[in-house]
Amino acid sequence: MFSSLSLLLLLHICSLTVSSLALPFEQRGFWDFAMDGNGGDLTSVMMRDEEGSGMEEELPPDVPLCPFGCHCQLHVVQCSDLSLTVVPKEIPKDTKLLDLQNNRITELKENDFKGLANLYALSLVNNKISKVHPKAFTPLLHLKKLYFSRNLLTVVPRNLPPSLVELRIHENRIKTVPEGTFSRLGSMNCIEMGGNPIQNSGFEPGAFKGLKLNYLRISEAKLTGIPKDLPDSLHELHLDSNQIQAIELEDLKRYKHLHRLGLGHNHIRMIENGSLSYVQNLRELHLDNNRLTRVPKGLPEMKYLQVVYLHSNNISQVDVNDFCPRGFGIKRSFYNGISLYGNPVYYWEVQPATFRCVTDRLAIQFGNYKK
Ligand SMILES: *[C@@H]1O[C@H](CO)[C@@H](O)[C@H](O)[C@H]1NC(C)=O
Ligand SMILES: *[C@@H]1O[C@H](CO)[C@@H](O)[C@H](O)[C@H]1NC(C)=O
Repeated sequence: MFSSLSLLLLLHICSLTVSSLALPFEQRGFWDFAMDGNGGDLTSVMMRDEEGSGMEEELPPDVPLCPFGCHCQLHVVQCSDLSLTVVPKEIPKDTKLLDLQNNRITELKENDFKGLANLYALSLVNNKISKVHPKAFTPLLHLKKLYFSRNLLTVVPRNLPPSLVELRIHENRIKTVPEGTFSRLGSMNCIEMGGNPIQNSGFEPGAFKGLKLNYLRISEAKLTGIPKDLPDSLHELHLDSNQIQAIELEDLKRYKHLHRLGLGHNHIRMIENGSLSYVQNLRELHLDNNRLTRVPKGLPEMKYLQVVYLHSNNISQVDVNDFCPRGFGIKRSFYNGISLYGNPVYYWEVQPATFRCVTDRLAIQFGNYKK
């Protein structure tokens, strides 16, 4: 039972974070099982599984296929850190998790994933891939998670599997997302594409057409404004560490469902009055490390806003009605986090009533401003 438990655990961890795939992976049991004459319950289950699963005919049924140097256990094939320059051959057809991270693969070819219709998660993180054959992903009928970060792609590959739910393509060299890149990807939920040198003009009109994303991160890129054409279904949008200068009136108009908006570490000086009125569902707003001179207008009207980061700006004045509604009887969630440190404003100059709709004093991070 140990092995099936550890597989479950692995599947579960992988669904949370890709770096867990880099954990030392202890080969345990599979060969022992296979060679253990009397076999346990698990062995017989696995043997039954393998019948008719497309194994090469000429192999004796009790010798499992596993690419040279890789670890294969149950449905997990682990080939990380092997200096591979190509995707290995003879990957078992029933593989669910294929880990190829930390190798030197340069290209994905047409037949690299042939027959892997059961693959659920594929990690190609930290290779040197710059070329993907347009049909490379065609066999992957059930792929849900594709981890492609830290490669040399200059464009998001075309023809991603329609079953895809999560794409991580962080830290490549992507400068363009052509129109239709994500068409037919109706299940996609989450894209992480930060750390690419992409500018606003790199997103062709219609680049995100058809996507119903919840989560999108394009941090550490070269954006100078909030992209206008992102999916309107977004709950979370992270655009931190770009070069965004301002938020203009209509910039957020499309993103009515946003719960979290990350705009820290940009160059924002100006947030146009009224622009925040479009994001009435916001819970969390990060505007730290910008060049704001005032608390943005519209915060008191945002009924659900609970966390607002404004630290490390150039705010020299905080007014009594900047955060909370005037008068009583206006329903609003209490804030549980407001950060204002690193601004040229002294806390003793701010009226205590300014924070009348904050859970408690500890929720306000002020610090002592030092010039
Ligand atoms: C924004 O509103 C404030 C008062 O709510 C006003 O003082 C300021 O001039 C307005 N700014 C613009 C650009 O309309
Ligand atoms: C901070 O704001 C003041 C005006 O309130 C301006 O004179 C100063 O140049 C600003 N500093 C920075 C670093 O932007």
